[in-house]
Amino acid sequence: MPSGALNRLSRNKITRDWISQPELRGEDFILPYFVVEGENVKRPIGSMPGIYHLSIDNLIRDIQETPGLRAVILFGVIEKKDDIASESYRQDGLVQKAVKEIKKNFSGLIVITDVCLCGYTSHGHCGIIGSRDSKVNCQGLIDNDATLKVLARIALSHAKAGADLVAPSAMTKGQVGVIRKTLDKHGFTDTGILAYSVKYASNFYRPFRDALNSAPEFGDRKSYQLDFRDPDEALKRIEQDISEGADIVMVKPALAYLDIVYRAKEKFKVPVAAYNVSGEYAMIKKMSNGDEELEKDLALETLTSIKRAGADFIVSYFGKEIIKWTK
Ligand code: PBG
Repeated sequence: MPSGALNRLSRNKITRDWISQPELRGEDFILPYFVVEGENVKRPIGSMPGIYHLSIDNLIRDIQETPGLRAVILFGVIEKKDDIASESYRQDGLVQKAVKEIKKNFSGLIVITDVCLCGYTSHGHCGIIGSRDSKVNCQGLIDNDATLKVLARIALSHAKAGADLVAPSAMTKGQVGVIRKTLDKHGFTDTGILAYSVKYASNFYRPFRDALNSAPEFGDRKSYQLDFRDPDEALKRIEQDISEGADIVMVKPALAYLDIVYRAKEKFKVPVAAYNVSGEYAMIKKMSNGDEELEKDLALETLTSIKRAGADFIVSYFGKEIIKWTK
């Protein structure tokens, strides 16, 4: 298109809308929720203004008050943690109860559950720790096989509770395959897998770790989350997860990794999700500092860039606002 024509069309809102894409739509968003035990609990999360710890009754109320919401992803915030994450896969556990309750109240809502150990282990790591030794040098920190067993149990318990999709986020090699096999074996062939295929060892998770009280007690997550200098490993992980049965692949965080979102979509032509993580949310909140107009503009610009890069859906703490803003 000659540049003059582009300029002419850009002058007027209607013609500008014609030539611009993509459109953000409320239905492309997945809203994260942090569930806690108890009744009538609604506790603000300090590091994430506008986001709360909610007990199940308040979670149901909150969803009721958000017409237009299409999908949620649940995180359990529990007190009773141990080395082997035994609270994570109990059929009457917190997340399992929450899923059941949501499904009972809202049949059309897509319920996704995060499948990881970090919210349930006393050491805060995403898997079962291999040997005491590994605590010192963090090499081979995670016992892969032991972790896969727990992840499969968690996923199955979520599927039994009624989850539409389970979302393994531990970055344990083989997690998608093991979960797919386990679900199929128990007859949950319709339960999908949203794989956190590309999860970088990122500094942008800090507010989330406050929310879940899941900061690792020692070491870091660099032995199992990806190195941000490495794009090729990301593409390999996606390919692997697709071959193991992932229905949707996810890139996380989103903003500093738009190149990966783009390449993932271009290369694999599968549904791609991006996770606009807690730190990206907090950044906008901090900068706009109560100026709602600025917050909206920043959020729309950011989230549009994620869509433009190729994400089909976005997990975002702005999920509610987006529904309102795009009406
Ligand atoms: C669990 C998990 C994390 C996030 C989602 N699932 C934290 C982590 O890996 O430390 C982060 C989400 C966010 O920052 O919003 N493994």
